[in-house]
Amino acid sequence: MTTRILLLGGTTEARKLAERLSCDARFDVLMTLAGRTQSPKPSAVAVRVGGFGGAEGLAAFLRIDPFDVVIDATHPFAAQMSSNAVQATDNVGVPLVRIERAAWSAVSGDNWTCVASLEAAVKALANTKQCVFLGVGRQSLDPFAAKPQHHYVIRVIDPPNVPAAMTHHEIITGLGPFRIDDEIALFRAKKIDVVVTKNSGGKATASKIGAARELGLPVIVVERPKPPIANYAVKVPSVDKAMAWLEAHYVSLTNRSV
Ligand SMILES: NC(=O)c1ccc[n+]([C@@H]2O[C@H](COP(=O)([O-])OP(=O)(O)OC[C@H]3O[C@@H](n4cnc5c(N)ncnc54)[C@H](OP(=O)(O)O)[C@@H]3O)[C@@H](O)[C@H]2O)c1
Repeated sequence: MTTRILLLGGTTEARKLAERLSCDARFDVLMTLAGRTQSPKPSAVAVRVGGFGGAEGLAAFLRIDPFDVVIDATHPFAAQMSSNAVQATDNVGVPLVRIERAAWSAVSGDNWTCVASLEAAVKALANTKQCVFLGVGRQSLDPFAAKPQHHYVIRVIDPPNVPAAMTHHEIITGLGPFRIDDEIALFRAKKIDVVVTKNSGGKATASKIGAARELGLPVIVVERPKPPIANYAVKVPSVDKAMAWLEAHYVSLTNRSV
């Protein structure tokens, strides 16, 4: 018997877990992506692209095509999808495991302003013109139109639609992981005054924080949205821990579908 896993993806963790599970004949994995990235990295497992139609759509999907477990490995800021996963698995009665990497914490030498939202990040920016490094993702640019006086250096995976009001900007495309030396060189070359980032956590994009520390630059950190429920029944911080959970629960998960 195989354990059928629906893996909600869009992160490094999802891709790495898929790689690990694809080498183990006990598991059969379908990874799902929202479809935001034009050319996602190749996957080791079958992939479904596109939304389900909210929590009800996901629940309907799980009723038609039964899975033994859903693993939510979406990004810490993908709050809607995580909320849908909680509701749908609860309705259908399928176990849910959440993989959520630890948030970044400020260390000695960091000059952080922590804010609760992108709008608050915009408010935290100076009112006089600065050169702002925006590393918040291409779906999160609109609020910055409220301060068009700044020059924005926007780093994204795929070219974004930049609000018309943000007349002073340049786009840098690139997919992490980024090296700290390269980030320092970039911030120097672009004469960055302040860095804005989501508190995504993880290694792939942490170097911008380290680079800001090295250069003494302030960082505006948008903290994570609140989780959809106070505590997930099962929440693990890494791919290793998710693998360990699956190993420990393989028999009970497989027996669900017998
Ligand atoms: N938000 C970020 O900063 C960020 C950063 C890096 C990567 N990502 C990844 O980018 C994707 C979209 O992020 P988001 O913030 O736009 O999500 P979101 O706001 O939580 O989700 C919006 C809608 O997109 C669809 N969706 C999201 N993730 C999906 C998945 N893995 N598989 C199938 N459908 C999915 C769902 O549509 P339906 O309601 O129609 O099912 C969901 O309701 C996620 O996979 C996330 O892991 C997000």
